[in-house]
Amino acid sequence: MTSLSSSMLPFLLILLFPFSWGTSAHTHEDFLQCLSLYSEDSAATSKVIYTPNNTSYATVLQFSIRNLRFNSSKLTPVVIVTPTILSHIQATIHCSQKHNLQIRIRSGGHDYEGLSYMSVLPFVILDLINLRKITVDLSTKTAWVQAGATLGELYYSIAEKSRTLAFPAGACHTVGVGGQFSGGGYGGLLRKYGLAADNVIDAELIDANGRVLDRESMGEDLFWAIRGGGGNSFGVVTAWKVNLVEVPPTVTVFAVPKVLKENATKLIHRWQYVANKLPEDIVIAAYVNRINSSQGGNPTIQATFTSLFLGGVDRLLPLMQESFPELGLVKDDCIELSWIEFALFLAGFPSNASLDVLLDRTPQSITSFKAKSDYVKQPLPETALEGMWETFFEKDIESPSLFMVPYGGKMEEISESSIPFPHRAGNLYKIHYYVAWTEEGKEASERHISWIRRLYSYMTPYVSKNPREAYVNYRDLDLGINNLAGNTSYKQASIWGRKYFKNNFDKLVRIKTEVDPANFFRNEQSIPPFSSW
Ligand SMILES: Cc1cc2nc3c(=O)[nH]c(=O)nc-3n(C[C@H](O)[C@H](O)[C@H](O)COP(=O)(O)OP(=O)(O)OC[C@H]3O[C@@H](n4cnc5c(N)ncnc54)[C@H](O)[C@@H]3O)c2cc1C
Ligand SMILES: *[C@@H]1O[C@H](CO)[C@@H](O)[C@H](O)[C@H]1NC(C)=O
Ligand SMILES: *[C@@H]1O[C@H](CO)[C@@H](O)[C@H](O)[C@H]1NC(C)=O
Ligand SMILES: *[C@@H]1O[C@H](CO)[C@@H](O)[C@H](O)[C@H]1NC(C)=O
Ligand SMILES: *[C@@H]1O[C@H](CO)[C@@H](O)[C@H](O)[C@H]1NC(C)=O
Ligand SMILES: *[C@@H]1O[C@H](CO)[C@@H](O)[C@H](O)[C@H]1NC(C)=O
Ligand SMILES: *[C@@H]1O[C@H](CO)[C@@H](O)[C@H](O)[C@H]1NC(C)=O
Ligand SMILES: *[C@@H]1O[C@H](CO)[C@@H](O)[C@H](O)[C@H]1NC(C)=O
Repeated sequence: MTSLSSSMLPFLLILLFPFSWGTSAHTHEDFLQCLSLYSEDSAATSKVIYTPNNTSYATVLQFSIRNLRFNSSKLTPVVIVTPTILSHIQATIHCSQKHNLQIRIRSGGHDYEGLSYMSVLPFVILDLINLRKITVDLSTKTAWVQAGATLGELYYSIAEKSRTLAFPAGACHTVGVGGQFSGGGYGGLLRKYGLAADNVIDAELIDANGRVLDRESMGEDLFWAIRGGGGNSFGVVTAWKVNLVEVPPTVTVFAVPKVLKENATKLIHRWQYVANKLPEDIVIAAYVNRINSSQGGNPTIQATFTSLFLGGVDRLLPLMQESFPELGLVKDDCIELSWIEFALFLAGFPSNASLDVLLDRTPQSITSFKAKSDYVKQPLPETALEGMWETFFEKDIESPSLFMVPYGGKMEEISESSIPFPHRAGNLYKIHYYVAWTEEGKEASERHISWIRRLYSYMTPYVSKNPREAYVNYRDLDLGINNLAGNTSYKQASIWGRKYFKNNFDKLVRIKTEVDPANFFRNEQSIPPFSSW
């Protein structure tokens, strides 16, 4: 993929498939007519349908775009449907099949490659923004959460009922549970409780035949596949049932920044040996970025050690003194708060902010970005770290960063085949490479994308191999893509498939073949069925 820019893909696909999917002038009218015929209350149904003729089409379309790289006027779904009841989804599936339209399912819209709202083939966006009911049951310590809800809405609903129950999902409150739990989902509780998908105990799913299924009726194989096998492959998840987990009333956080002059490199080097072996009550992640130093404004590298400890500061300090004295953590670096205040803190709000900010679906800032991921099994030498830092000083690269998340704890107790997410024992940590920019235009975009590809290539000798593993929720189309005609070969798909799922990929393919042999739910990185080999 390095020589083939992703912006060329639409043209290649059009060259390859010039006729089969050409939108006829009537497609959207036929589709709308189909929807209204299929719906019991067509007047009500029309309120959840947006075509380019509706004045709010662009607003609805752009509302959940989380990567400005894809906020383009060329983005033109034939129709956007925002279902309020399950029959709207069934009608959308039926009519999309009838009129040869693809479906892109969108919950929170954070897909790194925009796959929940973009397609080079004529398509419908099924936007679940109106399906966001959450029911928390304290007696069983479980919750049902509809797929269009955000993590912030889930955390808010739990906190309304209890301050000592939580859910082990991601940090950013605007992310959708629909997409995130489909690909795994991790946050500050991963070393104690594993991933969000590890804690899903039931689900409601609408399959390619329009059937509404739960865990019992879908069977254990399909239920396995949807917990980490990635979204948009097996059907539309409309709700998850999750197990809530216990957290103490007081947790402690710290974020300790160290620049190069303060031995940042040595500290990161040491961190690699420490963070994954700590007790599972503590996670210390490392965030690395470039800042202007206070003297003279020369750029330097800053590593920020960010931690969540499930307990009070009095227990944390001796633990740190014993296991990571080099960091020199002192009481003043630490803040004690409740778990929900930690969620606010992570989302970038002051810990005394009203919980209502968690309900806001609009992020504080949106930029263009490109990201990639790696798994590290052997500590990197200091020279490898220094080589990474050097790339951060390259000319005209706006905001490069790394986020390094330690594994170990619960993450290594769960077997590789428990759910499709396979990155368990043997991983010291995961790296998230990220570059964001505000400069507009194609040249800026290409410069930043090419930068992160070079960094990724530089890292090859130091990270997991055969396959070079990657996290499906950090979707990266550079790893390989399907042929959107639907006839992707197994060989073609297994290139990216093994990186995300290792040997679980074969089981995912088998299940896909059983539940969606016609490959109706598909995108550039959906699981292909055998029939299309
Ligand atoms: C700012 C930011 C912060 C993030 N932080 C974290 C983090 O802390 N931890 C972490 O694990 N990940 C994190 N991620 C990655 C995130 O988990 C994934 O991007 C996730 O897939 C987003 O889910 P979504 O519903 O918001 O996205 P969407 O773009 O709506 O969906 C993502 C994919 O899932 C499919 N999909 C969506 N809903 C459904 C559904 N109901 N049924 C079937 N398929 C569906 C979509 O078609 C698409 O392919 C972050 C991403 C961003 C942009
Ligand atoms: C979009 O416009 C059509 C008519 O062109 C109308 O029936 C429908 O209700 C509109 N959708 C919304 C959400 O207002
Ligand atoms: C938009 O409305 C015009 C008339 O107002 C109609 O001719 C056209 O077919 C409509 N197009 C779409 C995409 O709905
Ligand atoms: C997306 O682009 C539209 C114009 O096409 C613009 O109005 C909108 O503000 C953009 N969104 C963001 C978040 O910048
Ligand atoms: C950096 O580490 C060296 C020892 O390797 C130590 O002497 C020095 O004090 C450290 N600097 C800071 C700012 O901690
Ligand atoms: C850092 O310095 C550069 C060059 O002087 C400047 O363009 C940039 O805005 C500064 N960044 C910050 C965050 O202050
Ligand atoms: C939060 O605390 C700060 C001081 O630490 C104060 O200025 C601010 O008003 C407080 N905000 C709220 C919502 O209480
Ligand atoms: C997929 O199908 C298209 C059109 O039918 C064909 O041109 C192409 O060669 C096929 N690709 C593969 C990988 O079989």
